[in-house]
Amino acid sequence: MKFFIDTADIAEIKEAHALGILDGVTTNPSLIKKSGRPFKEVAKEICDLVDGPVSLEVTDIDCEGMLKEAAELAQYGDNVVIKLPLIPEGLKACKRLTEQGVKTNVTLCFSPVQALLAAKAGASYISPFVGRLDDIGQNGMEIIPQIRQIYDNYGFETEVLVASIRNPIHVLDAALAGADVSTIPFSVFKQLVHHPLTDKGLAQFLKDWKEVKA
Ligand code: G3P
Repeated sequence: MKFFIDTADIAEIKEAHALGILDGVTTNPSLIKKSGRPFKEVAKEICDLVDGPVSLEVTDIDCEGMLKEAAELAQYGDNVVIKLPLIPEGLKACKRLTEQGVKTNVTLCFSPVQALLAAKAGASYISPFVGRLDDIGQNGMEIIPQIRQIYDNYGFETEVLVASIRNPIHVLDAALAGADVSTIPFSVFKQLVHHPLTDKGLAQFLKDWKEVKA
């Protein structure tokens, strides 16, 4: 499973990148706002920093506007993936961009049938938001194996990109369900690596080693 980081914060991207296990970046308008930086400046910097795919989201809500925006976003780097909302106009834009050979990430997906539509429109990635489903009292992760099965049933190549991840259990469940990618906030990235027994065990090894005669 590939690991993307879900942020527009350059320091976070650099730190995750340094671990050597970062495969790409996803952003959205809220994450750009949170970075506190002008969009063009931060988008270019992320695209230059990361070799893997960088999802940049359109903000127009009609197909023609989305296509125009996509052409502008594509100029930030060869690794740009155009992020489109899962609305009828977004599906139309997805189809058109796919025909042009442009990579797309269809976002704000909350059901397996929506994911099926995105695959039929040729999406490179589908982004089901598991945490936001949890927030309204559903089990968000339930839709991931369902999407996986639908895609496998029909041989769709759209990659399942689990988004709105809130904790390490989401990452575990995404991997068990055979998701292609998890896009992970920096706070969860840090949680993934730490285990109290690792820290305790290492402290004991180092303590014992000091007492070993050379
Ligand atoms: O990037 C899209 C998604 O991961 C957003 O997550 O935490 O705002 O629901 P969240």
